[in-house]
Amino acid sequence: MDEITLFPQPRELERKTGGFTLNRHTRVFAADSAIGATLADYLRPATGFDLPVHPLDDDILSNAQNAILLAPEASDDAEGYRLEVEPGRALLSASQRAGFLHGMQTIRQLLPQQILASETQAGVDWTIPGVVINDSPAFGWRGIHLDVGRHIFPVAFIKKFIDMLAFYKFNTFHWHLTEDQGWRIEIKKYPRLTEVGAYREETVVAGAWDQYDGASYGGFYTQDEVREVVAYAAERGITVMPEIELPGHAVAALTAYPELGCAGAGYRVRTTWGIAEDIFCAGKDAVFSFVNDVLGEVLELFPSQYIHIGGDEAPKARWQACPACQARIQAEGLADEHELQSWFIRQIEAWLNERGRNLVGWDEILEGGLAPNATVMSWRGSDGGIAAANAGHDVIMTPNTYCYLDYYQTEDTESEPPAISAILPLRQVWQYEVIPRQIAADKRHHILGGQGNIWTEYMPQSDHVEYMMFPRAIAIADVLWHHPDERDYDALIARLGRHLPALDVMGVNYRPLND
Ligand code: ACM
Ligand code: ZN
Repeated sequence: MDEITLFPQPRELERKTGGFTLNRHTRVFAADSAIGATLADYLRPATGFDLPVHPLDDDILSNAQNAILLAPEASDDAEGYRLEVEPGRALLSASQRAGFLHGMQTIRQLLPQQILASETQAGVDWTIPGVVINDSPAFGWRGIHLDVGRHIFPVAFIKKFIDMLAFYKFNTFHWHLTEDQGWRIEIKKYPRLTEVGAYREETVVAGAWDQYDGASYGGFYTQDEVREVVAYAAERGITVMPEIELPGHAVAALTAYPELGCAGAGYRVRTTWGIAEDIFCAGKDAVFSFVNDVLGEVLELFPSQYIHIGGDEAPKARWQACPACQARIQAEGLADEHELQSWFIRQIEAWLNERGRNLVGWDEILEGGLAPNATVMSWRGSDGGIAAANAGHDVIMTPNTYCYLDYYQTEDTESEPPAISAILPLRQVWQYEVIPRQIAADKRHHILGGQGNIWTEYMPQSDHVEYMMFPRAIAIADVLWHHPDERDYDALIARLGRHLPALDVMGVNYRPLND
């Protein structure tokens, strides 16, 4: 029997003899016709079969042959599924749509890799090998983050990216929409955010800190495009969590509306990378009206329960020198600028909570005291996540030491395209243990899961994003989905060796397994 290779690996897989061969007379039976149609849509392009979708009943469930059956099953496991493939039929059962979608990705990966082609493939034997699979994820939060502030990518690529997340059973796309170098989301009430804030005059040349390319750069997503992306993702079981950076990483917004900064003038959308001293003023009430208005439009666009408000890398120099910020510290009885940042975040959290949403912030939101209901995204290693979980807060783990996909993939950086000066080989990603030992046993449930982060300073083109993402994001998917006890790297490489041609069929770039 041929080896079965699935990413992520299912929790339980039992191989059976034989298999089920699809042909143009195969029928799909589904209790939910929309779910059946999704499967037929996945199978149509490569097979050329236009499989009809019929309602499912008990007789069909027991007796139908040459059929794929999508059967509801009572379970409180929202993302789990069971797949049984035997000669004559494949039975996929799940309690919810998310489980069916994951099971469909498993079916796609079990079929010959040509199934992933967008055009009809001649002469392929479309056999799904005989299996019994019982599957469900180890972690409920499985995400990938993409920074579109430093470089923006077309909606067509964002959709391809979402397709890849779904293929690997991620469930969250963290869309980092605002930065010092560009504001990327249309906000109707503040048109200058995109008229002015979406464009920079030029961009620093990679690897040459004093040279600039002299070329204006920018762009943004209209609200219609955002809706299109959110709907596309939802159809594929992916939640899009937006990030609006506060109070730092805000120079593009300050260039559009300088009155929102402490100095009130003199801003320019950044043309180089790094951390900016200029951040939103915490003393001016106008900043909070602005933030609430912006977030109001964001909530209309994104049904996500979680809204990310940044919180990282906000230097305090401007607040120290600003009379309005100092007056706020006095009036609120705060000890210092760190407590002022916490006060800032608490205002936003209260506003979001009143509207039924949860705030997520990078681990700097711990400094000066955590907002009461905040979820922490631990990125400077795991310490922030450990402190937050032990204090009873939910945590999403994205430590740069295991999850930063903008880092070089090998020590031999000379042979790679330019990247930020840190190294994270696949071997290390694969060693990632999501729950740090320092978290007390009764606090472990606060670790919701993890995600890989893609910062794009050095990735002007989408094929470069793919190159940095793969195969490392596949290892992250494996870790978050089944979190194996044993992490045999040679076995991972052997599995990837069999699997990576699937990316070639889908036209997805990746770093080859050459060291
Ligand atoms: C971050 O990498 N600044 C969250
Ligand atoms: Zn100020």
